[in-house]
Amino acid sequence: MRCWAKLGGTRLGPEEYFAQGGRILARLEYDVGDEFLPLGGRGISRYAMHICNAGSAAPEPGGTPLVEAGGMLFKLEYLNPSGSFKDRGAFTGLPPTPSDVVVDSSGNAGISFTLYGRAAGHRVTVYTPRGVSEGKRRLLELLGAEVVFARDREEAHRMALAAGGVYVGHWLNPFFLVGVRTIAYEVYEEGVVPGSVIVPVGSGSLLLGLYMGFRDLMEWGLVDDLPRLIAVRAAGHDELFGIGGHCTLAEGLMIPSPPRGPEIRRAVRESGGWAEGVEDEDILKALKWSLKKGFIIEPTSASAVAVALRLRDRVEEPVLVPLTGSGLKRSETFLNK
Ligand SMILES: Cc1ncc(COP(=O)(O)O)c(C=O)c1O
Repeated sequence: MRCWAKLGGTRLGPEEYFAQGGRILARLEYDVGDEFLPLGGRGISRYAMHICNAGSAAPEPGGTPLVEAGGMLFKLEYLNPSGSFKDRGAFTGLPPTPSDVVVDSSGNAGISFTLYGRAAGHRVTVYTPRGVSEGKRRLLELLGAEVVFARDREEAHRMALAAGGVYVGHWLNPFFLVGVRTIAYEVYEEGVVPGSVIVPVGSGSLLLGLYMGFRDLMEWGLVDDLPRLIAVRAAGHDELFGIGGHCTLAEGLMIPSPPRGPEIRRAVRESGGWAEGVEDEDILKALKWSLKKGFIIEPTSASAVAVALRLRDRVEEPVLVPLTGSGLKRSETFLNK
């Protein structure tokens, strides 16, 4: 598959985009082909015909289980190699030649980019909020990232943009979305066409990747409609849909006004979906429910479970909930509450 970063009337391939420093908000454009042609194997390379700019050096993401619980379907994205769905985006989101790359992250994306970046010979610097959980910080260091602390998530973003090197952060990087699309393909290959998908939204890369993946399946004539995309936002940290309230636990969702805001709103509207807010109390209840079901997830992930439990029986079935990040990196949350 060929893919480009689209900027006004100009299209840049991955090499050209990253050669310019990667600091440009561009739309992802691609040429997906006339039919769905999955290859053999279980990981993301199964979709080599439909992804571009793929890496190869570390264990590949994808092939995560789809599990039924409480009448809903959960896609265990936290079982990717570094414990989050971000592995899929990092796998397709790095420059093709070894470089000094910089990324801003609440933890998971930085860990994914460090895993795949170091394996491909990049130097990786991660800008992260000072309050990042201990487990994530340790893992970043163990995987070989240079870690720089910022006051909060927004400052981490500004610092990464101002630093030298190639910016690969998923807030802007269009090629990150390439890999995330494959979640929709895997669900389809399990014989499931969701009526609704409950999606935690920070920068929106998961929501937009799912939107694009389901659009691809429609284009190939394999599904008729988009599932309703229900965006889950951290209450009080949301300028996209105006959801007020108080939330401190969903660290991956603390992005009030993500650069792809208009794209996110358009995708939600086109799918017939809407946005829901979560507060700490909802998240803690959802974490308990998840642990009982055997899902060891982090609070940001549990925000989607909270909304799934709230909306159960009120949204189109089957209901799909991606479980995005592992609780093993944030077990202090379970121990203290
Ligand atoms: C576990 C987890 N879930 C969901 C999200 C939100 O993803 P996105 O920024 O793609 O909207 C994040 C982002 O950091 C995350 O870490």
